[in-house]
Amino acid sequence: MMEPLKAQLLQILSPYGQKHVLRFWESLTLGEKQALANQVQAVDFDLLARLAGETGKPPLAQGDIEPAPFVELPTDDASAGRWSRARETGEAALRAGRVAAFVVAGGQGTRLGFDGPKGAFPVGPITERSLFQVHCEKVLAASRHYGSTIPLAVMTSSANDAATRAFFEQHEFFGLPPDSVRIFTQEEMPAVDASGKLILESPRHIFMSPNGHGGSLKALWDSGCIEWLEDLGIDTISYFQVDNPLVKVIDPAFVGFHIEGAADISLKVLRRTIPEEKLGIWVHVAGEGRVVEYIDMPVEKMRARNEDGSLRFSGGSIAIHCFSVAFIRALNREGFALPFHYAAKKISFVDESGKTIRPAEPNGTKFETFVFDALAFAKRIVAVETLREEEFSPVKNAAGNDSPETARRDMSRAYAHLLDAVGISVGLDTDGYPLHPIKIARSESRTP
Ligand code: UTP
Repeated sequence: MMEPLKAQLLQILSPYGQKHVLRFWESLTLGEKQALANQVQAVDFDLLARLAGETGKPPLAQGDIEPAPFVELPTDDASAGRWSRARETGEAALRAGRVAAFVVAGGQGTRLGFDGPKGAFPVGPITERSLFQVHCEKVLAASRHYGSTIPLAVMTSSANDAATRAFFEQHEFFGLPPDSVRIFTQEEMPAVDASGKLILESPRHIFMSPNGHGGSLKALWDSGCIEWLEDLGIDTISYFQVDNPLVKVIDPAFVGFHIEGAADISLKVLRRTIPEEKLGIWVHVAGEGRVVEYIDMPVEKMRARNEDGSLRFSGGSIAIHCFSVAFIRALNREGFALPFHYAAKKISFVDESGKTIRPAEPNGTKFETFVFDALAFAKRIVAVETLREEEFSPVKNAAGNDSPETARRDMSRAYAHLLDAVGISVGLDTDGYPLHPIKIARSESRTP
Protein backbone atom coordinates (compact mmCIF):
# COMPACT_ATOMS: atom_id res chain seq x y z
CA MET A 1 0.00 0.00 0.00
CA MET A 2 1.20 3.52 -0.79
CA GLU A 3 2.26 5.69 2.12
CA PRO A 4 -0.53 8.19 2.93
CA LEU A 5 1.88 11.13 2.72
CA LYS A 6 3.07 10.11 -0.73
CA ALA A 7 -0.53 9.58 -1.91
CA GLN A 8 -1.44 13.01 -0.61
CA LEU A 9 1.45 14.63 -2.44
CA LEU A 10 0.66 12.82 -5.67
CA GLN A 11 -2.84 14.25 -5.51
CA ILE A 12 -1.35 17.74 -5.38
CA LEU A 13 1.31 17.14 -8.03
CA SER A 14 -0.42 14.99 -10.66
CA PRO A 15 -2.91 17.56 -12.01
CA TYR A 16 0.03 19.86 -12.74
CA GLY A 17 2.30 17.24 -14.32
CA GLN A 18 4.84 17.53 -11.47
CA LYS A 19 5.02 13.92 -10.21
CA HIS A 20 8.74 13.77 -11.00
CA VAL A 21 9.34 15.63 -7.75
CA LEU A 22 8.80 12.33 -5.94
CA ARG A 23 11.18 10.40 -8.22
CA PHE A 24 13.57 9.56 -5.36
CA TRP A 25 10.89 9.23 -2.65
CA GLU A 26 11.67 5.63 -1.70
CA SER A 27 15.32 6.46 -1.00
CA LEU A 28 14.57 9.35 1.38
CA THR A 29 14.63 9.22 5.17
CA LEU A 30 11.48 10.03 7.11
CA GLY A 31 12.76 13.54 7.89
CA GLU A 32 13.69 14.16 4.24
CA LYS A 33 10.26 13.03 3.10
CA GLN A 34 8.57 15.42 5.49
CA ALA A 35 10.83 18.31 4.40
CA LEU A 36 10.05 17.62 0.73
CA ALA A 37 6.34 17.37 1.55
CA ASN A 38 6.51 20.77 3.28
CA GLN A 39 8.09 22.24 0.15
CA VAL A 40 5.41 20.77 -2.13
CA GLN A 41 2.60 21.95 0.13
CA ALA A 42 3.96 25.50 0.10
CA VAL A 43 4.02 25.81 -3.71
CA ASP A 44 1.19 27.74 -5.36
CA PHE A 45 0.77 25.44 -8.38
CA ASP A 46 -1.99 27.50 -9.98
CA LEU A 47 0.25 30.54 -9.94
CA LEU A 48 3.18 28.55 -11.32
CA ALA A 49 1.08 27.11 -14.15
CA ARG A 50 -0.13 30.60 -14.99
CA LEU A 51 3.40 32.03 -14.96
CA ALA A 52 4.73 29.21 -17.14
CA GLY A 53 2.14 30.22 -19.74
CA GLU A 54 3.06 33.90 -19.73
CA THR A 55 5.93 35.87 -21.19
CA GLY A 56 7.60 37.33 -18.12
CA LYS A 57 7.21 40.86 -19.30
CA PRO A 58 4.63 42.43 -17.04
CA PRO A 59 2.53 44.53 -19.40
CA LEU A 60 3.25 48.23 -19.21
CA ALA A 61 0.25 50.31 -18.32
CA GLN A 62 -1.23 51.42 -21.62
CA GLY A 63 -0.57 54.97 -22.70
CA ASP A 64 2.08 57.44 -23.71
CA ILE A 65 5.45 57.19 -22.04
CA GLU A 66 6.83 60.59 -21.10
CA PRO A 67 9.73 61.71 -18.92
CA ALA A 68 8.56 62.09 -15.32
CA PRO A 69 9.45 65.18 -13.31
CA PHE A 70 11.64 65.09 -10.23
CA VAL A 71 12.89 67.53 -7.63
CA GLU A 72 16.15 68.71 -9.14
CA LEU A 73 19.28 69.53 -7.18
CA PRO A 74 19.34 73.16 -6.12
CA THR A 75 20.44 75.58 -8.81
CA ASP A 76 19.36 78.97 -7.39
CA ASP A 77 18.23 80.59 -4.16
CA ALA A 78 14.62 79.50 -4.57
CA SER A 79 15.46 75.85 -5.11
CA ALA A 80 18.12 75.95 -2.38
CA GLY A 81 15.43 77.27 -0.05
CA ARG A 82 13.15 74.41 -1.00
CA TRP A 83 15.91 71.91 -0.24
CA SER A 84 16.72 73.43 3.10
CA ARG A 85 13.04 73.43 4.12
CA ALA A 86 12.82 69.74 3.14
CA ARG A 87 15.96 69.04 5.16
CA GLU A 88 14.43 70.74 8.21
CA THR A 89 11.24 68.70 7.80
CA GLY A 90 13.28 65.51 7.58
CA GLU A 91 15.43 66.45 10.55
CA ALA A 92 12.37 67.17 12.66
CA ALA A 93 10.96 63.73 11.76
CA LEU A 94 14.28 62.11 12.65
CA ARG A 95 14.49 63.90 15.98
CA ALA A 96 10.92 62.81 16.70
CA GLY A 97 11.88 59.17 16.03
CA ARG A 98 9.53 58.73 13.07
CA VAL A 99 12.01 57.16 10.64
CA ALA A 100 13.41 53.62 10.33
CA ALA A 101 16.09 52.24 8.00
CA PHE A 102 15.41 49.11 5.94
CA VAL A 103 18.01 47.15 4.01
CA VAL A 104 17.08 44.36 1.60
CA ALA A 105 19.76 41.70 1.72
CA GLY A 106 17.98 38.56 0.58
CA GLY A 107 19.58 38.32 -2.86
CA GLN A 108 21.86 35.46 -3.84
CA GLY A 109 24.75 37.60 -5.05
CA THR A 110 25.44 35.13 -7.85
CA ARG A 111 27.45 37.54 -9.99
CA LEU A 112 29.75 38.53 -7.13
CA GLY A 113 30.34 34.89 -6.20
CA PHE A 114 31.22 35.66 -2.56
CA ASP A 115 30.97 32.82 -0.07
CA GLY A 116 28.51 34.27 2.45
CA PRO A 117 25.77 36.88 2.57
CA LYS A 118 26.60 39.82 0.30
CA GLY A 119 26.26 42.13 3.31
CA ALA A 120 29.29 40.41 4.85
CA PHE A 121 31.45 41.33 1.85
CA PRO A 122 34.55 43.33 2.95
CA VAL A 123 34.06 46.46 0.89
CA GLY A 124 35.88 49.12 2.94
CA PRO A 125 38.81 50.63 1.03
CA ILE A 126 41.28 50.41 3.94
CA THR A 127 39.89 48.45 6.86
CA GLU A 128 37.74 46.14 4.75
CA ARG A 129 34.59 46.97 6.65
CA SER A 130 31.69 44.83 5.49
CA LEU A 131 28.73 46.30 3.61
CA PHE A 132 26.61 45.66 6.71
CA GLN A 133 29.09 47.54 8.88
CA VAL A 134 29.20 50.50 6.49
CA HIS A 135 25.40 50.76 6.61
CA CYS A 136 25.05 50.19 10.36
CA GLU A 137 27.65 52.85 11.12
CA LYS A 138 25.54 55.35 9.19
CA VAL A 139 22.43 54.35 11.15
CA LEU A 140 24.40 54.72 14.38
CA ALA A 141 25.81 58.12 13.40
CA ALA A 142 22.35 59.41 12.46
CA SER A 143 20.86 58.05 15.70
CA ARG A 144 23.49 59.92 17.71
CA HIS A 145 23.13 63.08 15.69
CA TYR A 146 19.35 63.25 16.01
CA GLY A 147 19.26 61.94 19.58
CA SER A 148 16.83 59.17 18.75
CA THR A 149 17.39 55.48 18.12
CA ILE A 150 16.75 54.71 14.46
CA PRO A 151 15.51 51.12 14.10
CA LEU A 152 17.03 48.96 11.36
CA ALA A 153 15.05 46.25 9.54
CA VAL A 154 17.07 43.68 7.59
CA MET A 155 15.48 41.37 5.04
CA THR A 156 17.26 38.09 4.37
CA SER A 157 16.28 34.93 2.53
CA SER A 158 16.28 31.38 3.84
CA ALA A 159 19.65 30.69 2.20
CA ASN A 160 21.46 33.51 4.04
CA ASP A 161 19.32 34.18 7.12
CA ALA A 162 21.31 32.11 9.63
CA ALA A 163 24.64 33.42 8.33
CA THR A 164 23.38 37.01 8.45
CA ARG A 165 22.14 36.66 12.03
CA ALA A 166 25.44 35.07 13.04
CA PHE A 167 27.35 37.92 11.33
CA PHE A 168 25.41 40.58 13.22
CA GLU A 169 25.89 38.75 16.51
CA GLN A 170 29.58 38.14 15.91
CA HIS A 171 30.02 41.90 15.33
CA GLU A 172 27.76 42.90 18.22
CA PHE A 173 25.32 44.53 15.85
CA PHE A 174 28.04 47.00 14.84
CA GLY A 175 27.27 49.10 17.90
CA LEU A 176 23.51 49.31 17.32
CA PRO A 177 21.26 48.33 20.23
CA PRO A 178 20.37 44.70 19.35
CA ASP A 179 16.71 45.31 20.12
CA SER A 180 16.63 48.10 17.53
CA VAL A 181 17.47 45.59 14.77
CA ARG A 182 14.88 43.23 13.25
CA ILE A 183 16.00 40.50 10.88
CA PHE A 184 13.38 38.59 8.91
CA THR A 185 13.20 36.44 5.79
CA GLN A 186 11.39 36.92 2.52
CA GLU A 187 9.37 34.29 0.67
CA GLU A 188 10.78 31.96 -1.95
CA MET A 189 9.60 30.91 -5.38
CA PRO A 190 10.39 27.68 -7.20
CA ALA A 191 11.96 27.90 -10.65
CA VAL A 192 10.85 25.84 -13.66
CA ASP A 193 12.63 24.23 -16.59
CA ALA A 194 11.76 24.79 -20.27
CA SER A 195 8.71 22.54 -20.00
CA GLY A 196 7.37 24.21 -16.87
CA LYS A 197 8.56 21.45 -14.52
CA LEU A 198 9.89 22.11 -11.02
CA ILE A 199 13.64 21.56 -10.74
CA LEU A 200 15.04 19.04 -8.23
CA GLU A 201 18.39 20.35 -7.02
CA SER A 202 18.90 17.20 -5.00
CA PRO A 203 16.81 14.03 -4.60
CA ARG A 204 15.14 15.56 -1.56
CA HIS A 205 14.95 19.25 -2.40
CA ILE A 206 13.12 21.42 -4.92
CA PHE A 207 15.19 24.35 -6.14
CA MET A 208 13.83 27.59 -4.69
CA SER A 209 15.07 31.16 -4.85
CA PRO A 210 14.08 34.39 -3.07
CA ASN A 211 11.09 36.08 -4.70
CA GLY A 212 12.85 39.35 -5.56
CA HIS A 213 13.18 42.61 -3.64
CA GLY A 214 9.49 43.21 -4.30
CA GLY A 215 8.95 40.46 -1.72
CA SER A 216 10.07 42.95 0.92
CA LEU A 217 6.73 44.73 1.03
CA LYS A 218 4.92 41.56 2.04
CA ALA A 219 7.75 40.27 4.24
CA LEU A 220 7.70 43.50 6.26
CA TRP A 221 4.08 42.75 7.04
CA ASP A 222 4.19 38.95 7.45
CA SER A 223 7.14 39.19 9.83
CA GLY A 224 5.31 41.59 12.14
CA CYS A 225 7.89 44.27 11.35
CA ILE A 226 5.27 46.84 10.37
CA GLU A 227 3.50 46.41 13.70
CA TRP A 228 6.80 46.70 15.52
CA LEU A 229 7.60 49.93 13.68
CA GLU A 230 4.14 51.35 14.29
CA ASP A 231 4.46 50.60 18.00
CA LEU A 232 7.71 52.56 17.96
CA GLY A 233 5.93 55.52 16.34
CA ILE A 234 7.62 55.10 12.97
CA ASP A 235 5.72 56.35 9.92
CA THR A 236 8.51 56.50 7.31
CA ILE A 237 10.85 53.76 6.10
CA SER A 238 14.13 54.58 4.38
CA TYR A 239 14.68 51.62 2.00
CA PHE A 240 17.98 50.68 0.37
CA GLN A 241 19.82 47.69 -1.07
CA VAL A 242 22.70 46.03 0.71
CA ASP A 243 25.09 46.21 -2.23
CA ASN A 244 25.41 50.01 -2.49
CA PRO A 245 27.99 51.24 0.05
CA LEU A 246 27.53 54.89 -0.98
CA VAL A 247 23.84 55.11 -0.11
CA LYS A 248 22.90 57.84 2.34
CA VAL A 249 21.11 55.42 4.59
CA ILE A 250 19.40 58.30 6.36
CA ASP A 251 19.01 61.40 4.21
CA PRO A 252 17.07 64.18 5.96
CA ALA A 253 16.31 66.11 2.75
CA PHE A 254 14.94 63.01 1.01
CA VAL A 255 12.86 62.10 4.07
CA GLY A 256 11.64 65.71 4.18
CA PHE A 257 10.54 65.77 0.53
CA HIS A 258 8.75 62.46 1.10
CA ILE A 259 6.90 63.78 4.14
CA GLU A 260 6.09 67.19 2.63
CA GLY A 261 4.71 65.43 -0.47
CA ALA A 262 2.60 63.10 1.74
CA ALA A 263 4.01 60.40 -0.52
CA ASP A 264 3.24 56.69 -0.38
CA ILE A 265 6.54 55.97 -2.11
CA SER A 266 9.46 58.25 -2.93
CA LEU A 267 12.44 57.43 -5.07
CA LYS A 268 15.86 58.83 -5.76
CA VAL A 269 16.95 59.34 -9.32
CA LEU A 270 20.24 60.27 -10.90
CA ARG A 271 20.84 61.73 -14.35
CA ARG A 272 21.17 58.99 -16.93
CA THR A 273 24.11 59.57 -19.21
CA ILE A 274 24.46 56.27 -21.09
CA PRO A 275 21.24 55.14 -22.83
CA GLU A 276 21.92 51.42 -22.38
CA GLU A 277 22.95 51.61 -18.72
CA LYS A 278 21.15 48.94 -16.71
CA LEU A 279 19.06 51.36 -14.67
CA GLY A 280 15.32 51.54 -14.25
CA ILE A 281 13.97 54.65 -15.97
CA TRP A 282 11.63 57.02 -14.14
CA VAL A 283 8.73 57.77 -16.47
CA HIS A 284 5.11 58.77 -16.63
CA VAL A 285 2.89 56.21 -18.34
CA ALA A 286 -0.40 57.87 -19.21
CA GLY A 287 0.47 60.44 -16.55
CA GLU A 288 1.26 57.92 -13.79
CA GLY A 289 4.69 57.44 -12.25
CA ARG A 290 6.46 54.17 -13.05
CA VAL A 291 9.96 52.78 -13.19
CA VAL A 292 10.53 50.85 -16.41
CA GLU A 293 13.52 48.58 -16.83
CA TYR A 294 15.80 50.00 -19.50
CA ILE A 295 15.34 46.86 -21.55
CA ASP A 296 11.57 47.36 -21.64
CA MET A 297 11.78 50.94 -22.90
CA PRO A 298 11.09 51.48 -26.58
CA VAL A 299 14.61 51.90 -28.01
CA GLU A 300 13.95 55.29 -29.59
CA LYS A 301 12.77 56.61 -26.21
CA MET A 302 15.65 55.04 -24.32
CA ARG A 303 18.07 56.88 -26.62
CA ALA A 304 16.07 60.09 -27.20
CA ARG A 305 18.08 63.26 -26.55
CA ASN A 306 17.28 66.89 -25.85
CA GLU A 307 18.75 69.65 -27.99
CA ASP A 308 21.62 70.09 -25.52
CA GLY A 309 22.56 66.42 -25.95
CA SER A 310 21.28 65.24 -22.57
CA LEU A 311 18.99 62.20 -22.48
CA ARG A 312 15.30 63.14 -22.69
CA PHE A 313 14.36 60.44 -20.17
CA SER A 314 16.89 61.68 -17.67
CA GLY A 315 15.85 60.06 -14.38
CA GLY A 316 17.50 56.75 -13.55
CA SER A 317 16.17 54.90 -10.51
CA ILE A 318 18.83 53.60 -8.11
CA ALA A 319 16.65 51.56 -5.79
CA ILE A 320 16.60 54.04 -2.92
CA HIS A 321 13.13 54.72 -1.61
CA CYS A 322 11.07 56.08 1.23
CA PHE A 323 7.89 54.19 2.01
CA SER A 324 5.05 55.35 4.16
CA VAL A 325 4.28 52.73 6.80
CA ALA A 326 0.55 53.37 6.36
CA PHE A 327 0.89 52.61 2.64
CA ILE A 328 2.57 49.24 3.30
CA ARG A 329 -0.09 48.42 5.89
CA ALA A 330 -2.86 49.29 3.43
CA LEU A 331 -1.28 47.24 0.63
CA ASN A 332 -1.16 44.16 2.81
CA ARG A 333 -4.54 44.68 4.42
CA GLU A 334 -6.22 45.01 1.05
CA GLY A 335 -4.19 42.22 -0.55
CA PHE A 336 -1.85 43.05 -3.40
CA ALA A 337 0.28 41.18 -5.87
CA LEU A 338 3.27 42.49 -7.76
CA PRO A 339 3.86 41.11 -11.26
CA PHE A 340 6.63 38.57 -11.73
CA HIS A 341 9.65 39.24 -13.93
CA TYR A 342 11.39 36.22 -15.42
CA ALA A 343 15.12 35.55 -15.50
CA ALA A 344 16.78 32.74 -17.42
CA LYS A 345 19.40 31.13 -15.14
CA LYS A 346 21.79 28.20 -14.96
CA ILE A 347 20.35 25.98 -12.23
CA SER A 348 22.08 22.79 -11.07
CA PHE A 349 19.78 19.78 -11.00
CA VAL A 350 19.82 16.01 -10.48
CA ASP A 351 19.23 13.77 -13.48
CA GLU A 352 17.18 10.59 -13.36
CA SER A 353 20.08 8.64 -11.88
CA GLY A 354 20.48 11.17 -9.08
CA LYS A 355 23.68 12.66 -10.51
CA THR A 356 24.11 16.44 -10.16
CA ILE A 357 24.36 18.28 -13.47
CA ARG A 358 25.74 21.80 -13.67
CA PRO A 359 24.43 23.22 -16.93
CA ALA A 360 26.66 25.42 -19.08
CA GLU A 361 23.68 27.33 -20.45
CA PRO A 362 20.56 28.68 -18.75
CA ASN A 363 18.15 25.79 -18.24
CA GLY A 364 15.56 27.33 -15.96
CA THR A 365 13.42 30.37 -15.29
CA LYS A 366 13.39 32.19 -11.98
CA PHE A 367 10.50 34.42 -11.00
CA GLU A 368 11.09 37.68 -9.13
CA THR A 369 9.03 40.69 -8.15
CA PHE A 370 10.55 44.17 -8.17
CA VAL A 371 9.94 46.72 -5.45
CA PHE A 372 9.42 49.60 -7.89
CA ASP A 373 6.33 47.86 -9.32
CA ALA A 374 4.59 48.96 -6.13
CA LEU A 375 4.52 52.45 -7.68
CA ALA A 376 1.43 51.25 -9.55
CA PHE A 377 -0.40 51.11 -6.20
CA ALA A 378 0.80 54.49 -4.94
CA LYS A 379 -1.42 57.53 -5.05
CA ARG A 380 1.34 59.99 -4.30
CA ILE A 381 4.93 59.63 -5.47
CA VAL A 382 7.86 61.99 -5.01
CA ALA A 383 11.09 61.68 -7.01
CA VAL A 384 14.24 63.47 -5.89
CA GLU A 385 17.53 63.91 -7.72
CA THR A 386 20.82 62.77 -6.29
CA LEU A 387 24.39 62.57 -7.59
CA ARG A 388 25.86 59.33 -8.80
CA GLU A 389 29.27 60.09 -7.29
CA GLU A 390 27.69 60.76 -3.90
CA GLU A 391 25.25 57.94 -3.74
CA PHE A 392 25.51 55.08 -6.18
CA SER A 393 28.23 52.52 -6.69
CA PRO A 394 26.75 49.03 -6.37
CA VAL A 395 28.79 45.88 -5.90
CA LYS A 396 27.30 43.51 -8.46
CA ASN A 397 30.16 41.81 -10.31
CA ALA A 398 33.38 40.16 -9.15
CA ALA A 399 35.43 42.39 -11.49
CA GLY A 400 34.98 45.21 -14.01
CA ASN A 401 31.98 47.53 -13.79
CA ASP A 402 30.05 47.71 -10.54
CA SER A 403 32.59 45.58 -8.72
CA PRO A 404 34.38 45.82 -5.36
CA GLU A 405 37.19 47.67 -7.13
CA THR A 406 34.94 50.41 -8.53
CA ALA A 407 32.98 50.66 -5.26
CA ARG A 408 36.20 51.14 -3.23
CA ARG A 409 37.42 53.82 -5.62
CA ASP A 410 34.06 55.58 -5.48
CA MET A 411 33.97 55.38 -1.68
CA SER A 412 37.41 56.99 -1.45
CA ARG A 413 36.33 59.70 -3.91
CA ALA A 414 33.16 60.43 -1.92
CA TYR A 415 35.22 60.63 1.29
CA ALA A 416 37.67 62.98 -0.44
CA HIS A 417 34.74 65.29 -1.28
CA LEU A 418 33.54 65.21 2.32
CA LEU A 419 37.03 66.17 3.47
CA ASP A 420 37.21 68.87 0.84
CA ALA A 421 33.92 70.32 2.11
CA VAL A 422 35.50 70.88 5.53
CA GLY A 423 38.64 72.39 4.05
CA ILE A 424 40.92 69.33 3.99
CA SER A 425 42.22 68.75 0.50
CA VAL A 426 43.73 65.46 -0.59
CA GLY A 427 45.67 64.77 -3.76
CA LEU A 428 43.48 63.77 -6.71
CA ASP A 429 44.37 62.11 -10.00
CA THR A 430 43.26 63.50 -13.36
CA ASP A 431 39.91 61.65 -13.12
CA GLY A 432 39.18 63.26 -9.75
CA TYR A 433 39.90 60.16 -7.68
CA PRO A 434 42.13 60.45 -4.58
CA LEU A 435 45.68 59.24 -5.01
CA HIS A 436 45.36 57.11 -1.88
CA PRO A 437 42.43 55.17 -0.41
CA ILE A 438 40.48 57.00 2.30
CA LYS A 439 38.29 55.79 5.12
CA ILE A 440 35.84 57.83 7.17
CA ALA A 441 34.05 55.89 9.88
CA ARG A 442 30.63 57.41 10.09
CA SER A 443 30.06 56.30 13.68
CA GLU A 444 32.87 58.59 14.75
CA SER A 445 31.64 61.57 12.77
CA ARG A 446 29.43 64.22 14.31
CA THR A 447 27.13 64.63 11.35
CA PRO A 448 25.47 61.86 9.32
P1 UTP B 1 20.16 42.05 -7.36
O1 UTP B 1 18.96 41.91 -8.20
O2 UTP B 1 21.27 42.85 -7.88
O3 UTP B 1 20.61 40.59 -6.97
O4 UTP B 1 19.68 42.60 -5.96
P2 UTP B 1 21.83 40.07 -6.10
O5 UTP B 1 21.33 38.93 -5.31
O6 UTP B 1 22.49 41.13 -5.27
O7 UTP B 1 22.87 39.58 -7.17
P3 UTP B 1 22.78 38.52 -8.39
O8 UTP B 1 21.75 39.06 -9.35
O9 UTP B 1 22.39 37.18 -7.83
O10 UTP B 1 24.16 38.54 -8.93
C1 UTP B 1 19.63 43.95 -5.66
C2 UTP B 1 19.35 44.05 -4.17
O11 UTP B 1 18.10 43.45 -3.84
C3 UTP B 1 18.28 42.44 -2.87
C4 UTP B 1 19.73 42.04 -2.94
O12 UTP B 1 20.16 41.49 -1.72
C5 UTP B 1 20.38 43.38 -3.26
O13 UTP B 1 20.48 44.17 -2.09
N1 UTP B 1 17.39 41.31 -3.17
C6 UTP B 1 17.35 40.82 -4.44
C7 UTP B 1 16.65 40.78 -2.17
O14 UTP B 1 16.69 41.23 -1.00
N2 UTP B 1 15.85 39.72 -2.45
C8 UTP B 1 15.75 39.19 -3.70
O15 UTP B 1 14.99 38.23 -3.90
C9 UTP B 1 16.52 39.76 -4.72
